[in-house]
Amino acid sequence: MLKEQINLKKLPRHIAIIMDGNGRWAKGQGKFRIFGHQNGVISVREVAEGCAELGVECLTLYAFSTENWSRPKHEVSALMSLLVKTIRTETKTLMDNGIKLDAIGDRNMLPKDCISELDEAMEITKANKRMTLILALSYSAKWDIVNATKQIAAKAKNNEISVEDIDETMINNTLTTYKYPHPELMVRTSGEQRISNFLLWEIAYSELYFTDVLWPDFRKEDLYKAIIDFQNRERRFGKTSEQLSEIKK
Ligand code: IPE
Ligand code: IPE
Ligand code: MG
Repeated sequence: MLKEQINLKKLPRHIAIIMDGNGRWAKGQGKFRIFGHQNGVISVREVAEGCAELGVECLTLYAFSTENWSRPKHEVSALMSLLVKTIRTETKTLMDNGIKLDAIGDRNMLPKDCISELDEAMEITKANKRMTLILALSYSAKWDIVNATKQIAAKAKNNEISVEDIDETMINNTLTTYKYPHPELMVRTSGEQRISNFLLWEIAYSELYFTDVLWPDFRKEDLYKAIIDFQNRERRFGKTSEQLSEIKK
């Protein structure tokens, strides 16, 4: 059993996933792309449950990027409808698993029914303590960094801060991800090996894990494989291997 090989004392606190390959999964079966997105919801449920059961504190899922707005109109609207429906039907799963829902991204871009469904689910789940599921919706890391820069520049202009006050902590605290530890592990499915404008600042020292599994096929066992791989790596943070074994002694 893969699950038993996981060292629960060395779990990543935060896992981020680029859920990719829905379209190719559907096409492989001669179906429309949306069929892949619909089946991707099952993987979301599995992975959220799997992370919560293990004791992972935060799971961030890249569900819709800023760039995804350029997809064909019918796909965008089908994705938005699926999102609204999924949040509604999955609130029970979140409650059953003690999962709190949060979202990052440019919410002004989202349709109104989507915003109200999100707000409702966030309100219902706000007291849940086991894990936080963060949906990245209409999100891109560059959007977030530009936004944060504007806020910091405005404060400097109004003399609320001086330029010398700007440091990593201030930037961290101004990004929409400010509440959460940076992900130790980032996973991308479907064989693509790129970040596609996901958490750039936050993954400065993340371990990256790529798998050929298409998102709708991704199950708890695939999650466990990623975590085991992560746990077998040496995270040196610029130090030498010898220094790390000194610290362990
Ligand atoms: C990921 O699957 C889901 C979203 C980006 C919304 P894709 O729709 O990108 O699937 P592929 O990459 O075309 O197979
Ligand atoms: C990244 O996937 C965005 C999400 C998973 C939401 P894409 O399929 O949109 O990314 P590219 O186009 O392959 O870079
Ligand atoms: Mg894709």
